[in-house]
Amino acid sequence: MKDHSIKLSILRALAQGGFHSGEELGEKLGVSRAAISKHIKGIQSWGVDIYRVQGKGYQLAQPMQLLDEHVLSKQFDRLVELIPVIDSTNQYLLNKVDSLECGAVCLAEYQSAGRGRRGREWVSPFGANLYMSMFWRLDAGMAAAMGLSLVVGVAVVEALEELGMHGVKLKWPNDLYYQDRKLAGILVEMSGQAGGAASLVIGMGMNLMMPERVDGITQPWASLNEVARPHNLDRNQLAITLIKTLHQALSDYELKGMQGFVERWNRLDNFLGRPIKLIIGPREISGLCRGINEQGAVLLETERGIESFIGGEISLRGRS
Ligand code: ATP
Ligand code: BTN
Repeated sequence: MKDHSIKLSILRALAQGGFHSGEELGEKLGVSRAAISKHIKGIQSWGVDIYRVQGKGYQLAQPMQLLDEHVLSKQFDRLVELIPVIDSTNQYLLNKVDSLECGAVCLAEYQSAGRGRRGREWVSPFGANLYMSMFWRLDAGMAAAMGLSLVVGVAVVEALEELGMHGVKLKWPNDLYYQDRKLAGILVEMSGQAGGAASLVIGMGMNLMMPERVDGITQPWASLNEVARPHNLDRNQLAITLIKTLHQALSDYELKGMQGFVERWNRLDNFLGRPIKLIIGPREISGLCRGINEQGAVLLETERGIESFIGGEISLRGRS
């Protein structure tokens, strides 16, 4: 793995606020001013907005709170691993499922190859959002994975509500929406089956303090700082809460499956009663969204009545 220690030390200094000159940073880290300037460019390529004022030095355009390994390990010991710069937290866990404890988590500050469904890019600027993945061994096997990904979304929205953050909704199968814009995405990936059990990696990317200027997102997006009071946006506390929420939701799902779940989903469905279309390969079907059924399928009302649709290849879109 590439050594990012100088860049991370620069970021720790800048995250304390104020201006830091190239000279000061260079002295502290034992490198030249020219090297600092090069590292700053590298940090900017991670999506961090840094500016320089002649005679003063470098400053972050927005305050940044870094994830803290000590705070996390106090809660979870070695179950949670923080790797600040990574390709993809999902890929990292998928690469080593055989050695993982159920519930193991990987968190990152920046992903160079964060991904969404069907290989789409998940834009992951440094230090602004949450990127986390959890490993889970599901005894019920692969067929139960669809339900599990719906359950995770509901549990996360309910946890946000408990923190006083209201108005976050769900788009089937597993996106979080705020005011019709995408706030977070959940990606469940599988690494085959051993016996009956499925090895799953459940990844979530949630925008917290997205920079104003961000390239590469191809649809309207939202960020949790639009929803929350600033004191609720402690990134470490939020990461801890969401990890606990996921642990709980996955254990509950193993015991109870989808029992009692349809009402919880439908209360939070962003499109309930609204016109939508389902895109299934080359086919598009329009109708009214009627929530989900006990199998986790999305329900669509058309002139033919109410029909259910399920499967990883389906995309839901709103229609105005
Ligand atoms: P689907 O219904 O098929 O899942 P989707 O548009 O939600 O459709 P995904 O593959 O789930 O697609 O997610 C990738 C989408 O999310 C892309 O449109 C991408 O531009 C967008 N995206 C990428 N990064 C972010 C981000 N940080 N915040 C919000 N949206 C993002
Ligand atoms: C989607 O909406 O398609 C799902 C997006 C999932 C993004 C998260 S970020 C953490 C984890 N690592 C990845 O590469 N993807 C998921």
